[in-house]
Amino acid sequence: MTQWPRYGRIEGPIVMIGFGSIGRGTLPLIERHFDYDKSRFVVIAPDDSDRKLLDDRGVGFVQEAVTRENYRELLGVHLKGPGQGFCVNLSVDTSSLDLMQYCREIGALYIDTVVEPWPGFYFDKGKGNEARTNYALRETVLAARRASPGGTTAVSCCGANPGMVSWLVKQALVNLAQDLGDVGPAPENRQQWGVLARRLGVKGVHIAERDTQRAKTPKPRNVFVNTWSVEGFLSEGMQPAELGWGTHERWAPANAGFHKQGCGAAIYLLQPGANTRVRSWTPTAQAQFGFLVTHNESISIADYFTLRDDRGETVYRPTCHYAYHPCDDAVLSLHELFGRAGKMQPANHILTETEIVDGIDELGVLLYGHGKNAYWYGSQLSVEETRALAPYQNATGMQVTSAVLAGMVWALENPNSGIVEADEMDYRRCLEVQTPYLGPVVGVYTDWTPLTDRPGLFPEDIDASDPWQFRNVLVR
Ligand SMILES: NC(=O)c1ccc[n+]([C@@H]2O[C@H](COP(=O)([O-])OP(=O)(O)OC[C@H]3O[C@@H](n4cnc5c(N)ncnc54)[C@H](O)[C@@H]3O)[C@@H](O)[C@H]2O)c1
Repeated sequence: MTQWPRYGRIEGPIVMIGFGSIGRGTLPLIERHFDYDKSRFVVIAPDDSDRKLLDDRGVGFVQEAVTRENYRELLGVHLKGPGQGFCVNLSVDTSSLDLMQYCREIGALYIDTVVEPWPGFYFDKGKGNEARTNYALRETVLAARRASPGGTTAVSCCGANPGMVSWLVKQALVNLAQDLGDVGPAPENRQQWGVLARRLGVKGVHIAERDTQRAKTPKPRNVFVNTWSVEGFLSEGMQPAELGWGTHERWAPANAGFHKQGCGAAIYLLQPGANTRVRSWTPTAQAQFGFLVTHNESISIADYFTLRDDRGETVYRPTCHYAYHPCDDAVLSLHELFGRAGKMQPANHILTETEIVDGIDELGVLLYGHGKNAYWYGSQLSVEETRALAPYQNATGMQVTSAVLAGMVWALENPNSGIVEADEMDYRRCLEVQTPYLGPVVGVYTDWTPLTDRPGLFPEDIDASDPWQFRNVLVR
């Protein structure tokens, strides 16, 4: 695309919190697609390693950590009018909930890519595992919404996943309906989406990802290498594994925990997600192991498509979880880390676009259990294509930054929608904005199931009556 569309004017200041792999990649997209007053764009982060990128462009930089103590004052100074400001939170170690609530208080638009807590939450042994779940974090955002419905838009969890994948699920359902010859009406609200998913026989959704990006130099020992935030990945990876819990499931692991409070859409396992493997499928990998790392979308998607009867009893819900095969260096890094009882490496490194030889981030949704067995729909963005599209990011980053762009456009166009999750946004509009940055977006059917080629040489505890039971998906 030579002529990039401009999506409108941000009238007030722009404050970006955090300037790591995602912040750096989002910067050129904001410049390309929005009009704004350059002198009122500020980045706040404690670490100034990429400050030159900002200085070169005349973007302000405040070298400070946003903390529980200073966030109101810091944001107050930089985000207040004239004109409606926009806070783009791409940091770790800041409370999404507190920042979002303050932005709404002062009438500034807000977007983030994860429900991040203040530091201490993820590794607090005293908290108990149920309290360390994404379910618990998401419930805090849902409670804030109930307490203060409507008002200035704050977009919660709008990266690639969580974020884009919620839009892909809807497009995949529409494609599947067409291919199955479904003649029912196109869904227009949440209830109707649930009805469509049930009518098509969808038992569940894997957020099925294979990152094949390869570094020019092999991973050194004692360094955790990844294609996006190592800190972010380790935080979520050491939370309990979590999944949206579908109504078709007949078996649960012995260490599963069920929540007594909240939406009830998910369960958690008493084991770290980054050390929990599941069987899944993507077009490039074909059958593969992925890690069942907890993610907000596993819960929000399962919740969004839940159908209840008149008494409020759940009658339909798809199972939903992440099945993540990160880049090979990250798999090796996890192996090293869990070999040491979860002790983190003394150093970590995020691979930049110049350190990667080749590879793609194949990130999509695998809808399973329906009349055509399973359908993967998603992006196969390569690092080469990424380099040609925009600077300062690899393929993984661009899938995230372009979702942030789409979320910002949607928020500007819908400034009074209150707190929203990606599931509730206009998926067509968001994908329209994002798709030029996603490389090939493809839909592929497969006859693979978690029972393909099993059992092999050894006896296994499987449920042969339904291949799509979680009992068959979970590696035990
Ligand atoms: N939804 C998605 O698809 C998705 C994908 C990738 C990353 N993410 C999330 O995006 C966020 C950023 O990821 P990344 O890869 O850029 O991480 P990164 O580790 O590269 O960068 C994190 C940034 O946060 C800054 N930071 C740390 N503490 C801070 C504080 N107290 N106040 C302000 N800034 C602070 C760091 O200095 C750094 O600039 C993470 O929360 C990550 O989980 C979401």
